[in-house]
Amino acid sequence: MVSQIDADRLVLAPIFRPVARMLLDGGIPKALNFAPGYPSRFSLEVMEAVVDAQEPGRFGPYFIVRKADGTIIGEIGCSVEEASDTGYIGYTVVEPCWGHGYATEALRALLAHVLDAPGIRRVVAETMVEHVASRRVMEKAGMRQCGARIDVENGEPVELVSYEALATTQPEAH
Ligand SMILES: CC(C)(COP(=O)(O)OP(=O)(O)OC[C@H]1O[C@@H](n2cnc3c(N)ncnc32)[C@H](O)[C@@H]1OP(=O)(O)O)[C@@H](O)C(=O)NCCC(=O)NCCS
Repeated sequence: MVSQIDADRLVLAPIFRPVARMLLDGGIPKALNFAPGYPSRFSLEVMEAVVDAQEPGRFGPYFIVRKADGTIIGEIGCSVEEASDTGYIGYTVVEPCWGHGYATEALRALLAHVLDAPGIRRVVAETMVEHVASRRVMEKAGMRQCGARIDVENGEPVELVSYEALATTQPEAH
């Protein structure tokens, strides 16, 4: 069962279907506020994915909520395909809230949570090569660059870089 995760100044709160639907209909979840610029286009895509999913994901997606004022500033989540030991993380913070270390704090907390879960050995995140801020966030959260590839988006080639973090292996008991 997906649960809330504490992340210093933030809380990662699982997004459930009724709330996602409410947001798509223009509503605001009870006891929470929206940061300026929220919901972003990415937020609405996340809400659509939550509404379309058969059941809640094991690791989100989550609202990134600032504890001090109960404000939603973005989303983060990690997807794991069935029978896989690798999770794929994605995150976003609305632009007026950039530069306060929020994405790093959220990513660190989710990485720790996912890598601590049984059966998960590796977490990967991908971003565009020129997106320096998100690469910096991955590095600050302890991930290291592990690959690069060219993808095609809207008919145009885009250069992507990937970062990974590995679970620490426990010594076997003898
Ligand atoms: C990437 C993103 C999440 C950053 O959020 P944030 O809360 O501002 O991130 P943080 O404050 O934790 O860290 C940002 C870091 O990037 C650095 N940075 C920001 N813009 C930069 C730039 N143009 N050049 C170099 N460094 C830059 C900041 O200085 C900071 O590093 P520092 O602490 O060493 O100074 C935000 O830009 C975003 O939502 N982007 C769109 C979605 C995305 O790219 N997601 C990631 C891929 S899944």
